[in-house]
Amino acid sequence: MRVLITGGAGFVGSHLADAWLARGDEVTALDLAPDTKVRHLREHPGFKVVRASVLDRDILEGLVARADLVYHLAAVVGVEHYVGDPYQVLTVNINGTQEVLTAAFRHQTKVVFASTSEVYGRNTRVPFDEDSDRVLGSTAIDRWCYATSKAAGEHFCFAFARMGLPVVVLRYFNVYGPRLDQMDRGRVVTIFMGQLLRGEPLTVIGDGAQTRCFTYVDDAVRATVAAGLRPEAVGRAINVGSDEEVSVRELAARMVRIADSASLVISVPEEAVYDRGYEDIPRRVPAVGRMRELLGVEAEVPLDEGLRRTIEWFKRQ
Ligand SMILES: NC(=O)c1ccc[n+]([C@@H]2O[C@H](COP(=O)([O-])OP(=O)(O)OC[C@H]3O[C@@H](n4cnc5c(N)ncnc54)[C@H](O)[C@@H]3O)[C@@H](O)[C@H]2O)c1
Repeated sequence: MRVLITGGAGFVGSHLADAWLARGDEVTALDLAPDTKVRHLREHPGFKVVRASVLDRDILEGLVARADLVYHLAAVVGVEHYVGDPYQVLTVNINGTQEVLTAAFRHQTKVVFASTSEVYGRNTRVPFDEDSDRVLGSTAIDRWCYATSKAAGEHFCFAFARMGLPVVVLRYFNVYGPRLDQMDRGRVVTIFMGQLLRGEPLTVIGDGAQTRCFTYVDDAVRATVAAGLRPEAVGRAINVGSDEEVSVRELAARMVRIADSASLVISVPEEAVYDRGYEDIPRRVPAVGRMRELLGVEAEVPLDEGLRRTIEWFKRQ
């Protein structure tokens, strides 16, 4: 099979490329980023990176025309972008998704779209099943632009599905592991990682009582591969996550314990990190029945084990 992965030089995309190549399939990654995260694949005969934007229609069209399956992972991701550059978030995540789906529709090629647990917003009724309401804040709060952009992408997916395109929507819940963002950047695990490995205090925003379900990347990738293969998944939105819920403060404490570090865990006020209103989500827990039923996958890597592997990887870098 010839697999196209937009965002294939990113964190999840690079692991997904590994998985398809390990099956003996061919992978093309379309990504704007340098190929640092897929460096290990440079000599692989089945792998190619095209460094371009999903918004480049001609390049996208040529790549989709040669693919049997398209994963659309390219997106502007990371809280610093949601609050720092909402224009880019909206443009790439909405228009880029429309472009990918339009090209795929022309060739009738199946698309798996990477959406997010953020679409549920601050709905307080957990666990979130796939039909749960989306509860988002005001458009005056920039952080909601990401959830909105991904929800718009999902609507585009279902609109194309109505026209006959095979589409699967995956909603990832806090995926982490080796090759996540650079230390100190991006997501909570990498921000804590930088602090941890320098022996500094880990800074929890607010009281750290907000909870998340962290999903080890290998589990997310098994689900993602299954979404590309299984006919039962077509036309559906499916949560991809672990249901092991921890508070952010507990995450920090576990990282300190697993790394056998003397770092403290301290609280910083939200205003010290985000100069404009942020609105954090209090709890985020997936219902995982649909993942099990339609994809035949369950999260298998417990948080402690996933953190141990991730910390080891970052230490080696
Ligand atoms: N990792 C998670 O916890 C998580 C959670 C929810 C959803 N997701 C979704 O999964 C996908 C992959 O996320 P990730 O964690 O690997 O993030 P990532 O930032 O590592 O990957 C996204 C990739 O998209 C690329 N990209 C951005 N704009 C582009 C453009 N215009 N053209 C081509 N490429 C472009 C980036 O360079 C990056 O390599 C994203 O769509 C993200 O929204 C991830």
